[in-house]
Amino acid sequence: MAAAAAAILELDPSHERAGRVIDNIVRLERRIFPKHESLVRSIHDELKRRNSGLIYMASTVAGGDGDEVVGYAMYTCPTSLCASITKLAVKESCRRQGHGEALLAAAVERCRRRRVQRVSLHVDPARTAAVALYRKAGFQVDATVMGYYATQRDAYRMFMDLQ
Ligand SMILES: CC(C)(COP(=O)(O)OP(=O)(O)OC[C@H]1O[C@@H](n2cnc3c(N)ncnc32)[C@H](O)[C@@H]1OP(=O)(O)O)[C@@H](O)C(=O)NCCC(=O)NCCS
Repeated sequence: MAAAAAAILELDPSHERAGRVIDNIVRLERRIFPKHESLVRSIHDELKRRNSGLIYMASTVAGGDGDEVVGYAMYTCPTSLCASITKLAVKESCRRQGHGEALLAAAVERCRRRRVQRVSLHVDPARTAAVALYRKAGFQVDATVMGYYATQRDAYRMFMDLQ
């Protein structure tokens, strides 16, 4: 198999490549997340928000046409005090290669550059891979939010202080 290289890029919605990247992300969203957690309906609105950003990892396989999205993360910094990681996912066949960790670190770094004091996120405790990744990155559980996703589905609220 041809060697693959991966780079983390910030999505520029006005760039001609953005449509292809968003299509890729929408396809992954449909596979990875249940409908009510999916960005599919809201991605264009989310991208218009001034304080939000979407970063993605594109794999350029030698001999391929490039631009294949292997993972993505979304963050929002609504105030100077607190930012949120609102999405993180890696394509199933590309997991356990450090991509999730790299995307999370890049999203946190963007929040740090905006001088926010705390980054928080919500995660279903059943998503054990994600919880382990967040803990490894330095996030701690702050609270369990009952019924956050659905009647029987709670969330951990996790946070990391940057200063
Ligand atoms: C969570 C997710 C993004 C991790 O992506 P990934 O690229 O496989 O993660 P990495 O290879 O960077 O792993 C980094 C660390 O995360 C943890 N981790 C990742 N996958 C794990 C698994 N299957 N089981 C346990 N720990 C895991 C480990 O601590 C790992 O560090 P290590 O390799 O030193 O053990 C990926 O599994 C995913 O997309 N899951 C579905 C979507 C999801 O749950 N998103 C979070 C919603 S809030």
